[in-house]
Amino acid sequence: MWRAATLPLMRKAYHLTTFGCQMNEHDSERMKGMLEALGYSEATERGDADLILFNTCSIRERADERFIAHLHEANALKRRAPGTLIGVGGCWAQSVKEEVFQRFPFVDVAFGPGQVHKLAEFLTSDSLTAQGYFEFEGFTGDLPVKRTRDFQGWLQISVGCNCVCSYCIVPSTRGREVSRDPEVLLAEVRRLAADGVRELTLLGQNVNSYGRDLPADRRISFAQLLEQVDAVPGIERIRYTSPHPKDMREDVIRAHAVLPALCEHIHLPLQSGSSAILKRMRRTYTRERYLDRVALIREHVPDCAITTDIIVGFPGETEDDFQQTLELAELVGYDGAFTFIYSPRRGTEAAQLKEQIPHEVKVARLEALVQVIQRRAAERAQRFVGRTLEVLVEGPSRTDPSRLRGRSRHNKVVNFEGFGEVGELVEVQITAATSQTLTGEMSLVSRAPR
Ligand code: 5AD
Ligand code: SF4
Repeated sequence: MWRAATLPLMRKAYHLTTFGCQMNEHDSERMKGMLEALGYSEATERGDADLILFNTCSIRERADERFIAHLHEANALKRRAPGTLIGVGGCWAQSVKEEVFQRFPFVDVAFGPGQVHKLAEFLTSDSLTAQGYFEFEGFTGDLPVKRTRDFQGWLQISVGCNCVCSYCIVPSTRGREVSRDPEVLLAEVRRLAADGVRELTLLGQNVNSYGRDLPADRRISFAQLLEQVDAVPGIERIRYTSPHPKDMREDVIRAHAVLPALCEHIHLPLQSGSSAILKRMRRTYTRERYLDRVALIREHVPDCAITTDIIVGFPGETEDDFQQTLELAELVGYDGAFTFIYSPRRGTEAAQLKEQIPHEVKVARLEALVQVIQRRAAERAQRFVGRTLEVLVEGPSRTDPSRLRGRSRHNKVVNFEGFGEVGELVEVQITAATSQTLTGEMSLVSRAPR
């Protein structure tokens, strides 16, 4: 168990910028909790901080570029206030390791995703030299946490990934898959529920392979874990991200039909609709197997929202391969999708492949795909119009502060007229829908069926 060993005498301020996925956002909450236990307070401006931190992502080249611009800005601030410390954590740091200090000599401390606690060790030591920490040592789950929203919590159920997707840098930054013990997880869920968390998101690089690495006497499946979390009083919504289609078993799909808290939404990353490309991506499923999973979801949970991730322009992707992706997107009718242009990542198998696709072709394919995704998402969203949905209030609407904003169980953003406290579950009658958001009015009638 990590403990704040020494408290600095002077109250210092930190500023933390997070890039990347929900796993990183969760690690950032841990970093904040740990820093505040050490006596640091959060600065709203980077320029007011004694400690400038970045939690980085390395999934696509764009993520690297964005972060490096911020890093240079931090250096400029440090030149004006030389005592400032600069720390870089997360996946990008892990992917470049010690090289970070050669490329950016002004960085004081760097650490990979498994070494958040090492930041505290560095800050409380007398070391004046730059330090890097890149060996996985444990879960951040033992660290204190500063949650962004009281009613939403994350539960990291595993780290790492045993897949070998040929485009992906994650296996090299987050290592092999390690599942956390179910008893430890359940104790954490009970603590979170007691603390006011109503919506819980289970996190892992491949959540539905959870448990396979646990010793036989401690092992439970992902579906069993969902069932046990569902039974914890106070947890009203359960989400998880991301599952892998190859491990999407019927028991998990059925759980969506029977567990009251498990939301009617499955994010099922497709990546490509062409079996030939899926093979080169080493995804280990075919187009048919993926469609079969979708059919099974629709059979057990007909109203389930399905979202996905798709990459266009993978090396060797022909026009015909891309047409198959378009056709599959049309066929499934996703409720939403994250679409990406393939970006070669160093050290990955696909970066070595010949037949890299010209950028203009990738851009044209992305545009064509986004059109299909948005049209189908808008069509799908019409099914909500006229219905009353349960909405978890998140705050004022971003476009019109006189209205409220929340999320339905299908993970749709809902902007609505009405009243309600942040973190409250209310009933909203849906009056209009676009591909991205639903609009409605708060309903005062009895609770709607799910
Ligand atoms: N290029 C483009 N997109 C990528 N993703 C992962 N690696 C790459 C890459 N090299 C996408 C995948 C994944 C999502 C998180 O990011 O679609 O599901
Ligand atoms: Fe998350 Fe992957 Fe980015 Fe790491 S590289 S922060 S795991 S998206």
